[in-house]
Amino acid sequence: MSVKEAIKNVESYVGERFPVEKMNYASMVQKKEVPVHQLSWGYYIGGLALFLFIVQIFTGLMLLFYYQPTVSDAHASVEYITEHVPGGALVRNIHSWASSMMIAAVMIHLLTTFAMKAFARPREITWITGVVLLGVTFMFGFTGYLLPWHQIAVNATKIGLQTIEEIGQYLPGELATWPRAIKETIQGEASVGQATLSRFFALHVIILPLSIAAMLGIHLLSVQLHGMSAGVDEAPKRKEKFFPTFFLKDLKVWGVAFLVLFILGLCVPFESFFAYPLFSPFDPKGSTPDGIKPEWYFFWVYYPLELLPFWMIMLGQVVLGAVLVATPWIFQNTNRRAMRLLAVAAGIYLIVMTLFGENIYHLFKG
Ligand code: HEM
Repeated sequence: MSVKEAIKNVESYVGERFPVEKMNYASMVQKKEVPVHQLSWGYYIGGLALFLFIVQIFTGLMLLFYYQPTVSDAHASVEYITEHVPGGALVRNIHSWASSMMIAAVMIHLLTTFAMKAFARPREITWITGVVLLGVTFMFGFTGYLLPWHQIAVNATKIGLQTIEEIGQYLPGELATWPRAIKETIQGEASVGQATLSRFFALHVIILPLSIAAMLGIHLLSVQLHGMSAGVDEAPKRKEKFFPTFFLKDLKVWGVAFLVLFILGLCVPFESFFAYPLFSPFDPKGSTPDGIKPEWYFFWVYYPLELLPFWMIMLGQVVLGAVLVATPWIFQNTNRRAMRLLAVAAGIYLIVMTLFGENIYHLFKG
């Protein structure tokens, strides 16, 4: 193949994924239609994740007015927000609830778009940016968890970072030292301390929001350029206009989500689901509390990690990551029925591990 042909191939590949001729109001808004069928509800989930992200930006900015990212003041500033700032407890509580809801929405969105084969040509870039968005969303959860600097947060972060270092023992030669170097780079010092808090803070409030905004820009642009995917094999009952019909329905879903969030934020302290005294500040001389575990959205990997050999889970993670990235090519010829079965099986696994992971753990380990 000549260089000219290669450039032409790249041009036509990119052109099919980003058809610039459609980059106008008429194609992206006026003409866009949404198919109506039994899985149409799936089209709302990405929008819901987007709404929850917007809530996170707003509430996060409000928290930023008072939060202090230092080991001496972080915990006290969070306590001050909760107890003395008017509306502070509500804002903080909504930020916590919305983070969990956003992670749940993104996971369901992945499963529905997978089941609907919405990743198929020419939507590969939509899917791959989605996989990055999933990773960034999990990283938001991991970095945010440390910020209140309480006993559980610091110890759970230590365990999480330790996991990275342990990967080294399974790698050959020089590579074996890399995980430790990565851990130390993230940690910033010998143990989790001020440098770690500063880095997690920078990640949580600047680097991750900028990364998610850039990824979301590409994700949403490609959604608008290609319109909604068919979703099912059968012809749709009918199609409805994206603007204003579907958009107004999207807003209704957002309204309900906000109401649920507001009521939860007002009535149910997020921490009431934890078995530990969350409010004791981190004490370097204190012991690691018993039964420490990560947030619920890591249970699907945490409990298997407790039960099975470490290498097996790490290998599983690498395979899962590779399969997710390569999904548009691996499953390009798989029929939608099989896709739905796979999505349902993955959904059942996630629900069982999240709700009953601890029971399963005690069943085997006593
Ligand atoms: C911060 C996280 C995310 C946000 C805010 C987001 C937002 C959206 C929105 C608003 C849409 C259009 C409406 C819809 O189809 O639901 C969409 C579509 C899509 N998203 Fe996401 N998304 C996120 C993560 C993901 C993830 C993790 C994946 C999968 C790996 C993914 C894959 C897709 C695909 C394939 C479509 C096209 C759907 C179609 O054409 O029918 N997204 N996303």
